[in-house]
Amino acid sequence: MGAEVLLRQQQPWWFVSLAILGAFYVAAAAHRLLYVSGITLLLRRRKDLGRCYGAWAVITGPTSGIGRSMALELARLGLNLVLVGRDPAMLHDISRAVSETHGVRTKTVIFDFSLVSTPQGGEAMARLREALEGLEVGVLVNNAGVATPHATYLHEEPDAEAWVRMIRVNLWALTEVTAAVLPGMLERGRGAVVNIGSGSTEALPSYPLYSVYAATKRYVTQFSRSLYVEYRDKGIDVQCQVNIQSCGLAIIISEENTKQFVSPYFFLSWKNI
Ligand SMILES: NC(=O)c1ccc[n+]([C@@H]2O[C@H](COP(=O)([O-])OP(=O)(O)OC[C@H]3O[C@@H](n4cnc5c(N)ncnc54)[C@H](OP(=O)(O)O)[C@@H]3O)[C@@H](O)[C@H]2O)c1
Repeated sequence: MGAEVLLRQQQPWWFVSLAILGAFYVAAAAHRLLYVSGITLLLRRRKDLGRCYGAWAVITGPTSGIGRSMALELARLGLNLVLVGRDPAMLHDISRAVSETHGVRTKTVIFDFSLVSTPQGGEAMARLREALEGLEVGVLVNNAGVATPHATYLHEEPDAEAWVRMIRVNLWALTEVTAAVLPGMLERGRGAVVNIGSGSTEALPSYPLYSVYAATKRYVTQFSRSLYVEYRDKGIDVQCQVNIQSCGLAIIISEENTKQFVSPYFFLSWKNI
């Protein structure tokens, strides 16, 4: 009743101006809230990855976990896949699964990333480059990664080589594979690089007993941020996904390093399908 009377009365200009200003403020705050919560991501239309970036995707570590789910999802979206991993039987299995289920083309490259920078690693890198020749690779997913098998104090790890292998897989191989894929993307002026980091470096202030793992994943996020700036005006998008747990929230460090947000991004098909 009171509001009705208020509306019928002629309002002074300052009141109307303040009301309009207030409405704009509420709209801007609501938009920001939707953006920060990641809800806008869920609402916006899905990109046609093949058309935006290119017909092929390269995915490392596609034989299990997140990588396998990513491979199946990218194939479902119509991308042909170059599957890079160390176990021929498991590579064959995922290759068959994606081509039979989604009818896409696949190539497999056997590459043990813990050997990168060794002569065998050099041969594997040459095989990867050869496999990529002539392919329109639009998307690269750097997913392969290892953590230490157990929580341990740095000085108590009996196998110091284990750190070296982890560093090779988590950051060295990721860097080399990215460098191998980028020239084609640059030539075509489009592409997307998705690096899988870890919540242990972005969501937590420290990750004790997994110090080397956390440090390698910190490299991945900082590498991604810098790479994004390096290539943003060349048509190449760079994204780093920092997962907290397999079935949990993912924080996506997106487009700009200042725009970091937690999104309700549940990987429903996380494990094997
Ligand atoms: N799951 C989580 O909660 C979580 C949280 C934060 C970050 N992450 C990150 O997400 C990524 C995937 O994790 P996930 O949980 O899905 O792990 P996963 O199930 O163990 O899968 C790891 C993948 O990497 C491959 N890989 C391991 N060592 C390799 C090597 N030396 N050479 C080539 N490929 C190798 C594995 O191949 P094989 O099958 O041959 O072993 C497998 O395909 C990793 O980078 C991980 O650090 C995961």
